[in-house]
Amino acid sequence: MGKSGKGQRIGILTAGGDCPGINAAIRGVGKTAIVKYDMKIIGISDGFSGMINKEYRELTEHDLSGILTMGGTILGTSREKPFKKNGKGKNEISKPALIKHFYEQMELDCLVCIGGNGTLKTAHLLSLEGLNVVGIPKTIDNDVWGTDVTFGFDSAVNIAAEAIDRLHSTANSHKRIMIIEVMGHTAGWIALYSGVAAGGDVILIPEIEYSEEKIAEYLIRRVEENKPYSIVVVAEGIKNPTKDRSAAQYLSRRINEMTGLESRETVLGYIQRGGTPYPMDRVLATRYGTAAADMIARRDYGQMVALRNNDIISVPLGEVSGKLKLVDPNDPLVLQAKNMGTSFGN
Ligand code: F6P
Repeated sequence: MGKSGKGQRIGILTAGGDCPGINAAIRGVGKTAIVKYDMKIIGISDGFSGMINKEYRELTEHDLSGILTMGGTILGTSREKPFKKNGKGKNEISKPALIKHFYEQMELDCLVCIGGNGTLKTAHLLSLEGLNVVGIPKTIDNDVWGTDVTFGFDSAVNIAAEAIDRLHSTANSHKRIMIIEVMGHTAGWIALYSGVAAGGDVILIPEIEYSEEKIAEYLIRRVEENKPYSIVVVAEGIKNPTKDRSAAQYLSRRINEMTGLESRETVLGYIQRGGTPYPMDRVLATRYGTAAADMIARRDYGQMVALRNNDIISVPLGEVSGKLKLVDPNDPLVLQAKNMGTSFGN
């Protein structure tokens, strides 16, 4: 550890759920590190599993060409959480100790961790163990604290909005209530943005408790006002008392029982995470990646790159770790949608 920028060996891993834009971020870090700083890039396979099992390969500038528009991650990912109880025998070496050991054996000067909340928490714990770590926030959920936006979010919103757009015509033809479920276990960002973008009549997010009665009244009133169909956009993490049905399935049945209106549900699922990133995510991921390489050259470790008012800044991983960025029920976009008559079920 402690060489000057030139010749530094930088490990990169991608962990947690994938999202559009990861390869653009890998390319941003890697190309800047190689071209501007003459560093070496070591691609770690499958998130923290690769650091535990010592699976890696050197990435040349050539390897980083042609990946900007590719979905997924060329490095692979996993949900391995090395600091969770790992089930190993008493005498076996712990996963964090293995990671530290291989970090030294691979002669890494820094490890770039591209991921969401879980990954950034692990990155912070590794930096407390003495590793030089830099975090890059990614997730379609947009719930990483300390940054205005994560890459992957814009693509997911575009995909979800396109899907909702398509539901309008079939809902209108059949005079139905269409319920569409988008991702977001704890944060309703995708539901809020895609719902507003595609004219959802009802938008339900985990941060705002909904009442079935209020939704039923609202939907019946729309029929009485000669609005023959309605679009209900729900985040997957909204209240759902059933275990075997999705939130959309549950709500679809309840709406039908309570209003007598015909309803159908659509669960968008992993389509939101797959495929080529939209241009805004390519740009954001590139900005994050190049900024991360600059941070490494400055030895600004233990930090996450972030976007604040369209400026790239760095935030200590210790500040980010363990926090979530949720939708404020009084977020201006929620209030603006309410002012236009959109229901949030409350
Ligand atoms: O990427 C974030 C996210 O899409 C969540 O919204 C979703 O609930 C979760 O990942 C599911 O991913 P997996 O099945 O890969 O764990």
